[in-house]
Amino acid sequence: MNKKEAVNLLRKYAPNKHVFRIVLDHSKAVQKLAVSIAKKANADVEFVKTASLLHDIGRFRFPPGPESIKHGIAGGKILRKEGFPELARVAERHLGAGILKKEIIEKKLPLPKKDYVPRTIEEKIISYADNLVYGKTIKTSEWAVKRFRNEIGRECAQRTQKLNEEIKSLINKNKKQRK
Ligand SMILES: [Fe+2]
Repeated sequence: MNKKEAVNLLRKYAPNKHVFRIVLDHSKAVQKLAVSIAKKANADVEFVKTASLLHDIGRFRFPPGPESIKHGIAGGKILRKEGFPELARVAERHLGAGILKKEIIEKKLPLPKKDYVPRTIEEKIISYADNLVYGKTIKTSEWAVKRFRNEIGRECAQRTQKLNEEIKSLINKNKKQRK
């Protein structure tokens, strides 16, 4: 899927132009950051370009609010139905630094009981970038950790911290290899 097709797919599920714009602008900001990281980390740049545009396609069903946590799986459902299981996994796994089955059970979260954790490097990059992009503004990785500590809890903050370190070390490793 190319960039234009990804935008068209996003538009197909938007209830109106206004909401489409909000999600598209956020997704483009995530895309910009994610692509720059993907290049540095030697990841699949073309995949990251498309996947970042579609990671929040479930937002149209579950906008920020009490059921916000469901927007990942809602996006996954859409993307799987459209025939893109790899993109579906990005949407399902992009929240924070992932959600564990254990947390779903303990906190009685309204999600099917399984792990939703970014596994591939591309999935990790998109989660990382999404954590740093608040609306359209780019924050620091420390800001993201602090935000999750306050809003969700210590465990989520620790996992985010670990993801931040993993992305940074990946960038450094590739930097050294290029020298
Ligand atoms: Fe999201």
